[in-house]
Order: sequence, then structure tokens, then C-alpha cells
Amino acid sequence: MLERILRNGALRSLKQRENLIDLTSNDYLGLSRDPPFREAIIDKWEKWCPSLSNKVGSTGSRLLTGNHRFFEELEEKIAQFHGFASATLFNCGYIANLGMLSSLFSGEDTLIADRDVHASIHDGMKLSKAQLFYFRHNDLAHLETRLKNKKRCFVIVESLYSMSGGKAPLSELVPLCEKYGAQLIVDEAHAVGILGPQGQGLAAEKHLQERVFACMCAFGKALGVHGAVVLGSSLLKKKLLNLARPLIYTTAPPLPLLAAIACSYERFPGMQREREHVAALCRQFQFSSHIQPIPAPGNSQAKLLSYYLMHHGIDVRPILSPTVPKGKEQLRLTLHSFNTRADVQTCMERIEKWSGQ
Ligand SMILES: Cc1ncc(COP(=O)(O)O)c(C=O)c1O
Repeated sequence: MLERILRNGALRSLKQRENLIDLTSNDYLGLSRDPPFREAIIDKWEKWCPSLSNKVGSTGSRLLTGNHRFFEELEEKIAQFHGFASATLFNCGYIANLGMLSSLFSGEDTLIADRDVHASIHDGMKLSKAQLFYFRHNDLAHLETRLKNKKRCFVIVESLYSMSGGKAPLSELVPLCEKYGAQLIVDEAHAVGILGPQGQGLAAEKHLQERVFACMCAFGKALGVHGAVVLGSSLLKKKLLNLARPLIYTTAPPLPLLAAIACSYERFPGMQREREHVAALCRQFQFSSHIQPIPAPGNSQAKLLSYYLMHHGIDVRPILSPTVPKGKEQLRLTLHSFNTRADVQTCMERIEKWSGQ
């Protein structure tokens, strides 16, 4: 197994790169490195401590000893902010997708996903009992052929695709699903914090909350922390609490993480200036979003370009096959509120120089 991975130039290993220009992390708003944010988390945590009997760990599953009023208050605030009836907290986005998709559907249901969705969606689908179908990326005509003559369909998309940076056409997807009595599930991992008037995500920007079945928001990207929620109806929450094994059979997140998520939700809605800076960079460099793929076909090409940029002080990581299909290997360049125009300019010039060699 490992030999085949090695032969394909796709052997993964852990790397540390420091003191480089970050054009690669998911810390789009720079919150994870923001000193006032860090202070706010410590303050909140210290305020919470007395009513938690100074407990750090949650001590059990949410269904047993791991629940606390802070969990429920936070979920209520998050649901309200995004405009949904309920929010259910999961340990991370991968687990949220796995929990929702593996548990809610029976053999009578059909799941139809965009081909480019994240691994966590593919994995959750594989664990479900539903019948599985895929449609070509953002191809609504192809989706329509999949929707015909099927019962109880759920369509799954990302609002902002993590590799291509392209948006899903949500305003067209919703009526198409409605035409066939299908329901829509939206992964907002890379949109939350960035899209929507206060960073609520694309479904909120398009006022579609009432017309989607569920949205998944992950906190490890623009929100600068860790964890995730599934947003939806009160019934959806009841089902998740009763059926989602990755929620039932795991220890609830530690309380300091909860304080950090609460601080993030207090902070990022007001980060309009930061969102505008990212949008301005996108306009200046004609990127369609804060995620810009740089094609570098072939695993070795992608790795070499990334090393070349690192050598010039720039961190842009390669995305290799099989994470992306063979021939679609790329560098995944991301923009942040702390990047300057000169950072991006330098990087693009280096890439041009490399391509001209
Ligand atoms: C689209 C998408 N969904 C879900 C996840 C998983 O989120 P997390 O990192 O919180 O597990 C990711 C993370 O890479 C993602 O890109």
C-alpha cells in the first residue's frame, strides 16, 4: 500500500514551515493569531470557571455527563445568528458531516452529491444506508437527470468549494431541488466568516435558510478555532442527538474550546474591514474567491513549485492526487486579512517565473 503511494509521489508526512508568508492556511480572518482574541478567550474562560467547578474537560458524552448550560446557550446563539431553528455542536467538521450523513438516512433515501465535495461528505455517504449518486461539479442539468424518478432525495453541496474556490449556485439549486421534492444540505466550511453580511455563510446571504434541510459550519477555518455545528430544524437536532453515533459515542469538546468558539462568534461578525480587505485582494488579482487554485499537474510538479516558493519565503501547500484527481494537482493559494498586496504580488511573480523556466 505504502509502496504504491510512494511510487505515485503522494507519500504524506508531517511538515513544519515557519516564518513564511502565509498564503495557504484556512485562517482567513487572522483570528487564530490575534492577541485581543486570545485575551478574550482567557477572560471568558476565567469567568466561566466558577460555574464549571473549574472543570476543563467535559468529562463525557453530551448525552451523559458532558453537557452543560454553556453548550446549550452557545448552540442557541449560533442558531439565531445563522437564522436557523437549531444548531448541534460536533467535535469538528469532518465528524459533523460523518455524523449527519451516516445516521439520518435509510435504504429508502437517495443521496446525490456534487463530485467535488469534501472527503468527509464522501465518507459519511459511504457509511449511510441510502442509495448514492454523484453529479458533475456545479452541473445543474446533470443533477436534474439524477433527480428524476427518485424518492426522498437529499442533494449535498459545498457553498464555497475548498479546492477550486468556486461557489455553488445556491439560488438555482434550491428551486431545482424543490421542483423534485428534494432537500438540500450545504457544507459552509469555507464560507462561514467570509460570506454573508456578517459572515453567516452563503445560505444566509441568499436568504435561503428556510429552504435548506441543513448547513454545516466548521470553526477551524475563518473562525480561527475548532469544532463545527449542523444547523437546521428542531426535528433535525432531535434526530442527530438520537442517531448520530459520532456525537453520541464520543466525549463532548473541552470547555475552553467552547469559550473560544463563543469568543469567535462575538468577534467575527464585526470583522467587516477584514472581509473587505480579502475581497479587495480578490478583485486586484482577479481571483473568484479567497481560495485560488494554481494548477501544477503531476504530484512532483506541485511539490517542486511549493518548495520553490518556500525557498523564496512563501508558504503555499501542494494538493496532490488522490486528494484531487490525477492531472488536477495544484497549489491551493488562500488569501487572508493579514496578507498585503505585495505578499500576493511577490507570490504571483514567483509562480510566473517558475512557469517560464
Ligand atoms: C468542505 C469541508 N468540509 C469539512 C471539513 C472538515 O472540517 P474540520 O477541519 O473542522 O474537520 C473541511 C476541512 O478541511 C472542508 O474543507
